[in-house]
Amino acid sequence: MFCSDEFIRPPRGTIEAMSFIARYYAPSIFMRCGCDAKRRMANFLMNNAIQVTNLRRVYKSYVGVFRRKLKEVEAVKGISFEVAAGELFGILGPNGAGKTTTVKMLTTLLLPTSGTATILGHDVVRDVSALRPRIGFIFGGERGLYWRLSGMDNLKYFSSLYQIDPAVQAKRIPYLLELVGLKERANEKVEGYSRGMKQRLHIARTLLNDPEVMFLDEPSIGLDPVAARDIRRVVRDLRDEKKTILLTTHYMFEADELCKRIAVINKGEIVALDTPANLKRVVQDLSVVELEVKMFTPDALERLKGLPFVDAVTVQEREQNSLVIVQSPRGAEAVSELLAQLNGATVQKVTVREPTLEDAYVRLVEGMDETKKEGAGSK
Ligand SMILES: Nc1ncnc2c1ncn2[C@@H]1O[C@H](COP(=O)(O)OP(=O)(O)OP(=O)(O)O)[C@@H](O)[C@H]1O
Ligand SMILES: [Mg+2]
Repeated sequence: MFCSDEFIRPPRGTIEAMSFIARYYAPSIFMRCGCDAKRRMANFLMNNAIQVTNLRRVYKSYVGVFRRKLKEVEAVKGISFEVAAGELFGILGPNGAGKTTTVKMLTTLLLPTSGTATILGHDVVRDVSALRPRIGFIFGGERGLYWRLSGMDNLKYFSSLYQIDPAVQAKRIPYLLELVGLKERANEKVEGYSRGMKQRLHIARTLLNDPEVMFLDEPSIGLDPVAARDIRRVVRDLRDEKKTILLTTHYMFEADELCKRIAVINKGEIVALDTPANLKRVVQDLSVVELEVKMFTPDALERLKGLPFVDAVTVQEREQNSLVIVQSPRGAEAVSELLAQLNGATVQKVTVREPTLEDAYVRLVEGMDETKKEGAGSK
């Protein structure tokens, strides 16, 4: 639970000693007891806003027209993590990794198959009515606003629905419109808003009841770079206000820029959980070679992947060419051998660069897949 390199100074006075014991030892004692009240006490002592233990979710559905067969998808495979009060915690993962499923379980919208999760000490299954008023969530998409009403009227409407005191509304709504940068356009109908503006209005709506913990599921998905930057600014402001935030994203730079710690999730499992700086260390022994190639073929990709000194290869398709990103400890020395594998293709540009968090992510996610493949092969 604590980093091994964390240095815990021994306490001096009696009060200091007692608080030291309460802070560092009591939580683990309470945690081992199954009793809910004790778990809540443990979270309180550890100052954790979110505590997730072995959370798992299996979706069951029937497939086939004539011979109906039960299909099970284990979307989340027993994940555990905790988020401290006031922390901005990121869950990063590719499509289908289980991010939304996790957020839906934590926001009481979906029942876990097994495992437990507590938010602010409330169990997400048993304490739903106590928990809901204390959390806010947004999922990517445009639903949940009244397009014929103005931004201001939407916020007034939802405030009344949430039974927020009119005196509080009168102060809070202008404040939120300012926070999300919609003050100037507050009286225009939402149907005339861009996607980014709608998403910012969503955030304002979520903040109406001043939730202590916010869940943002891919808040910048589908937005243009400028709108996405505006969303990140709002998230940063919320972080600076010390709100506890759980943010899911596909975008590495977003997690790097905003989050204190990141859980990398792939196929329902956490493959790494650390600070962005520590995650980057996963690739500190690597260099990255980027090749801009015309007419890049799947055969060439297989040949590159088969080279003994190549760690991972990813390909980004662009309009005019493909960007082939090769991770290798050899760096510049590997270039000529890499080029030799591309016979028939036209190489337009070669760049050798230092690895980024994105490369660490590729290594973590692809590394896990490779391990699985090896395991399957050896059976
Ligand atoms: N209602 C459902 N019924 C059956 N399977 C589902 C359902 N919802 C999600 N899944 C499956 O669960 C897995 C995890 O999906 P989830 O939506 O949680 O992933 P995600 O990380 O949010 O992906 P994305 O980045 O695409 O939003 C996927 O394999 C998905 O197909
Ligand atoms: Mg999702």
